[in-house]
Amino acid sequence: MNTVKIKDKEFAINIPSGEIQEFVQHVADQINHDLCNDNPLFVIILNGSFMFAGDLFKKVNFPCEISFIKLSSYVGTESTSEVKTLIGINENIKGRKIVIVEDIIDTGITIDHLLNQFKKIGPSEIKIATLLFKPNAFQKNFKIDYIGKKIPNDFIIGYGLDYDGYGRNLPDIYKIVS
Ligand code: IMP
Ligand code: MG
Repeated sequence: MNTVKIKDKEFAINIPSGEIQEFVQHVADQINHDLCNDNPLFVIILNGSFMFAGDLFKKVNFPCEISFIKLSSYVGTESTSEVKTLIGINENIKGRKIVIVEDIIDTGITIDHLLNQFKKIGPSEIKIATLLFKPNAFQKNFKIDYIGKKIPNDFIIGYGLDYDGYGRNLPDIYKIVS
């Protein structure tokens, strides 16, 4: 499938699944190298990161704890500045090394909000791993430790990412064309 139509929008294939697997492997290699002795708690942000996390953690090769939280900030194809916590964290993160796992960092508002929430609880360190990063949209200044791929400011779907709830199941990443 080279193009897909979801509701009023058309999308064309942009990053094929083979290439995605290559940069997911690269992120896993870095995490395995850097964090294997640190007993980190990985915090996966739902919904968008489910596919990235599924592939990433099959490639992480040390015993680790994985948890999920659910945040929401996007409406349609636009990021909003209001971040809602729909499911919060259960584990105690005080004194712990945390690695936030995100599908895409766009404006950075979502992660910035989460960093502020987590910092109040007092983890020993917070690292960030993201599948995709849009540097030209980024409005914050936190450090992103692991980046799968930097992409331009296009709206994309697939591999966990959605347009109005649809498109998450696509194995490749598609870019909006109209
Ligand atoms: P931020 O708060 O602007 O950094 O946006 C982060 C969230 O918006 C991500 O976790 C995604 O869920 C969503 N998002 C950002 N860009 C896109 C996109 O191009 N397609 C689909 N969702 C996106
Ligand atoms: Mg997300």
